[in-house]
Amino acid sequence: MTELELIIDLHKNSERQGPGSENDTLKALDYLDLPTDQNLKVADIGCGSGGQTISLAKNLNGKIIAVDLFPEFLNELNEKTQKSGLTDKIVTLEKSMDDLPFNEGEFDLIWSEGAIYNIGFENGLKKWKDYLKVGGYLAVSEITWITQSRPKEIEEFWKTEYPEVDTASNKIRQLENNGYSLVGYFYLSQDSWIETYYKPMQARFENFLKRNDNSELAKKVVEDNQAEIDLYQKFKDYYSYGFYIARKNE
Ligand SMILES: C[S@@+](CC[C@H](N)C(=O)[O-])C[C@H]1O[C@@H](n2cnc3c(N)ncnc32)[C@H](O)[C@@H]1O
Repeated sequence: MTELELIIDLHKNSERQGPGSENDTLKALDYLDLPTDQNLKVADIGCGSGGQTISLAKNLNGKIIAVDLFPEFLNELNEKTQKSGLTDKIVTLEKSMDDLPFNEGEFDLIWSEGAIYNIGFENGLKKWKDYLKVGGYLAVSEITWITQSRPKEIEEFWKTEYPEVDTASNKIRQLENNGYSLVGYFYLSQDSWIETYYKPMQARFENFLKRNDNSELAKKVVEDNQAEIDLYQKFKDYYSYGFYIARKNE
């Protein structure tokens, strides 16, 4: 297996592929003022195995197109959809988020948890805006500094990993500059990183190594993820995922 295949293998059969929780999804959803008597059209971009997609489907009246690049995650979501009796509400689409086959003004809501960074926050805001109706909502979570200054070690790490890392005030300005109005913002609690993402991942390490014959590459994948967890533990007061809920103006 390649390193990418191993990374997918490690993240398979998990509730979430990134920090977040059902509470956070519902909290973000609470900011929206959407008609309850209409069939809404929703896109969940970078859905992974669809932890948040299922919550959205249970709480919204309409149809969700759940998009991801990797069929392994979409297959899992399809199984969950069947088991939850939500097949009339969720369809999956294997596509890259920068090459979506959507029409102008098609969606009431575009959702994306922990995934817009793959094409960059500002690029994503611009691209996806076309697919939203005027007055439609964008709800995205994005890595965000939660203090004005921070130790050099973590500053340099994130600047290298994701040069667009920034404070919420600068991210909100980008939303405003690109024709959105902010309707809500909060950042994820430490539990949404540790309890619902990192701890379940650590619990999968042993089986992951076993089924991959303790290969050097599998060990490296575990070490890299453990290093990410250690870094989070050390610097968790300085960054989180910010959840941005905004409305398209024009
Ligand atoms: C950090 S995970 C978040 C998954 C899920 N939203 C969650 O919060 O559990 C990022 C997701 O983006 C997907 N992804 C990465 N690059 C992508 C692309 N170019 N187009 C669509 N999805 C992509 C990954 O497969 C992964 O499922």
